[in-house]
Amino acid sequence: MPNDKFLQFPQGFIWGAATSAYQIEGAWNDDGKGPSIWDTFCHRPGKIRNGETGDIAADHYHRWAEDVRIMAELGLKAYRFSTSWSRILPQGVGAANPAGLDFYDRLVDALLGAGIEPIATLFHFDLPQALQDRGGWTKRETAEHFGEYARVVGERLGDRVTYWIPHNEPSVTAVNGHLTGEHAPGWRNPFVVLTIGHHLLLSHGYAVEALRAACRHPTRIGIALNLSPIYPASESAQDRRAATQLDGALNRMVLDPLFRGRYPEDMQRLFGLLFPKIRPGDMEHIAAPLDFLGVNYYTRAVVRHDWRIPLLWGSQIQPKGSEYSEMWEIYPPGIYDLLARIWKDYHPTEIIVTENGIPVPDRVDADGRVRDERRAGYLHDHIVQVHRTIADGVPVRGYLVWSLLDNFEWSLGYRMRFGLIHVDYRTQTRTVKDSGRWYAQVIQENGVDATLSTAMP
Ligand code: FCB
Repeated sequence: MPNDKFLQFPQGFIWGAATSAYQIEGAWNDDGKGPSIWDTFCHRPGKIRNGETGDIAADHYHRWAEDVRIMAELGLKAYRFSTSWSRILPQGVGAANPAGLDFYDRLVDALLGAGIEPIATLFHFDLPQALQDRGGWTKRETAEHFGEYARVVGERLGDRVTYWIPHNEPSVTAVNGHLTGEHAPGWRNPFVVLTIGHHLLLSHGYAVEALRAACRHPTRIGIALNLSPIYPASESAQDRRAATQLDGALNRMVLDPLFRGRYPEDMQRLFGLLFPKIRPGDMEHIAAPLDFLGVNYYTRAVVRHDWRIPLLWGSQIQPKGSEYSEMWEIYPPGIYDLLARIWKDYHPTEIIVTENGIPVPDRVDADGRVRDERRAGYLHDHIVQVHRTIADGVPVRGYLVWSLLDNFEWSLGYRMRFGLIHVDYRTQTRTVKDSGRWYAQVIQENGVDATLSTAMP
């Protein structure tokens, strides 16, 4: 029960969970869906751990009704999902696939019927292969096609969906997809990355405009960005410079255009000729006013000067004495520092934490429970920090756990389990984890106890 150590959240705070199409839906070629670049990428040998693919994933395309039922049992106030562009427009442009639109239509109705606010993301890394074949995000036309896709979805769902996120993590598409090659389409071409980033941001602007025109319902439109606070490894001038550079590349390169209508000057100097051609009017589209900023937070970055990394002159270190998940350092104060800094520097109308979570190698015990107190602890400690930011006057309106369900974690395949709900991939059985029950209690009480870091009901 709430006590004096209890951190109460504002009334109407949006507690929810997030997923994305390719990571959960499966049904990769059912009912007229066209292939996306992730279908192609996963089907190429050697790209994904153990040769795993999202062909079936959590089979959400067939099990969505059960999934919505569980969300309702947990008392979720919101559910963030993504629509698959090539399920809706198999060729990326042109004729829509009625079965694809019907799927999301039913999902939205079921969510609303259960009192759960749908938050629709339009692009979570899965470009239609047909558009990739024409050059993908290197082409400006892809941005225009994205605006058209936003219109199609807005016209169909915009009488019921209030919250829209045209893009998830554009810099991950640009960098992981085209520089490091770990993500589809698997390119390693430093010369196209900034152009792709620009086209992604431009497409975001087009989609914002298309959604505002198409939706017959009050809309709240944002974007979900992967942002991290960056700390220098020491107070030396070189480490501090490296931290500023990485902050520029990771955070300011996206936030400045969206909120200030220009790319950061130091980054323009740094990247020089790699910088894309910006046409008149582009920056105005990109800086179309937003109703909220979505922040995906997992970890921080600590940077040390490193002469072997040209341009940025710094590489990330793993601080000693920290706790680590299977993927990243666990650093809850980072979400406070990040949100406070975003508020100070950019003043978004509102902020929603659109992803936060941790992979844990969970298993179902003989008694049917999944004892993932580590996840509950991680979520608890981050929620406490979010409360701190709200107490400081930062308008954080919601918090979404990544993820609702265990799912396909991109190149790492199925090993990383992020869900509040365990999925047995052989049988597709869903089991609510202990963290899911704990989160249900947080939602019900609209807050957390400050002192407990792994409180279980
Ligand atoms: C984010 C992605 C999401 C998931 C989490 C762990 O970068 O948006 O799809 O993979 O990381």
